[in-house]
Amino acid sequence: MSERTDLQGRHIVLGLTGGIACYKSAELVRLLTKAGATVQVVMTEAAEAFITAVTMQALSGRPVVTSQWDAREPNNMAHINLGREADAILIAPASADFMAKLATGRADELLSLMCLARPRERCPLLIAPAMNREMWSHPATLRNVATLRADGATLLGPGHGDQACGETGDGRMLEAQELCDDLVAFFQPKLLAGRKLLITAGPTFEAIDPVRGITNHSSGKMGFALARAAQEAGAEVTLVAGPVHLPTPRGVRRLDVMSAQQMFDAVVPVAPQHEVFIATAAVADWRPASLSAHKIKKEGKKVAPTFELTENPDILAAVAALPDAPYCVGFAAESENLLAHARAKLLRKRIPLIIGNLGPATFGRDDNSLLVVDAQTEHALPADGRATDKLTLARILMQELATRLAAR
Ligand code: CTP
Repeated sequence: MSERTDLQGRHIVLGLTGGIACYKSAELVRLLTKAGATVQVVMTEAAEAFITAVTMQALSGRPVVTSQWDAREPNNMAHINLGREADAILIAPASADFMAKLATGRADELLSLMCLARPRERCPLLIAPAMNREMWSHPATLRNVATLRADGATLLGPGHGDQACGETGDGRMLEAQELCDDLVAFFQPKLLAGRKLLITAGPTFEAIDPVRGITNHSSGKMGFALARAAQEAGAEVTLVAGPVHLPTPRGVRRLDVMSAQQMFDAVVPVAPQHEVFIATAAVADWRPASLSAHKIKKEGKKVAPTFELTENPDILAAVAALPDAPYCVGFAAESENLLAHARAKLLRKRIPLIIGNLGPATFGRDDNSLLVVDAQTEHALPADGRATDKLTLARILMQELATRLAAR
């Protein structure tokens, strides 16, 4: 996959406070710079007990700032200059003590001073807590979290799991990749804020016997990219996925299913609770009429077995026919005559929008080119018809969807 540069042109001030999770911040700097950002690291004295400024300088390519008395700044006002240059300040790890300090507006060292002095209307503050579960659940910390949120800060995490102290629970800092993804999402326009989207993705698997089945080459990548793009745009997303090995996009609710019938059962009852249904799944049209309870053995058979097939329910058509149907978007994977087939499916399934693509050219790949078809119009996406990575396409589709929803 081509390297994504979603943070191109962004300048991030990364603040480190005292915590074991400082080791993850080294990786975070690498990911942020790989994504195109410039990163200025600021460390508290406690952070320097966990990781050296040398490491962070080498990874960020910039001298680390650790003191408000840093004489390298011509005006000797690091706390002012740093915040004026930044597109965002991310504190990762943020200790319980540092959050308490921020919540009360104290400013007795460079990092807290810089947070207090930042221009709040254009330099957002993001906080990735890292602490023991008892510290995280303490009423004092929860009070501070509420205050920080009320003051406009965005909390990233914390995560749940094993902690450095040997205990298990809430409070560990998110992984570097999760923080990087959250930061990328933070900068996306919230075009679908508050909307609820339901998306199907991947193939289905139609069992023949306990060890065999019929499936297809759909990788689920387009549906997962759409789920991620919708979540980034502020939507509440439920993703019903057939058997694929893809990580769940951050903040997306995922339900795993195998067969078309299971996908139907997971989707149709909840569809009216959503404003939009996007069907990207390559649902098997047929399944074996009967499921063999045991493995069909070759032993002693002179002729190959034959199967009777029966039709699967059409999930998209069923959702579109509901009295309180959401806005339905179909996908048409074709091998030829894209426009004609796509428009025929639009009419047959009685849906307002269908996205055509050439199945064999896209299955399993990271890029695609689409044809957006409604009852009257059609246009290529991207406009020049050149294959583009699926997340970029998904983000453009979300803009288009937001415009169509607003026009209804
Ligand atoms: N679809 C569905 N349930 C099915 C079959 C398809 O929800 N049982 C949805 C797909 O997710 C996709 C759209 O319908 O959004 C079109 O799927 P496709 O398989 O291309 O269409 P079919 O109706 O199966 O037409 P054909 O196989 O003739 O191309």
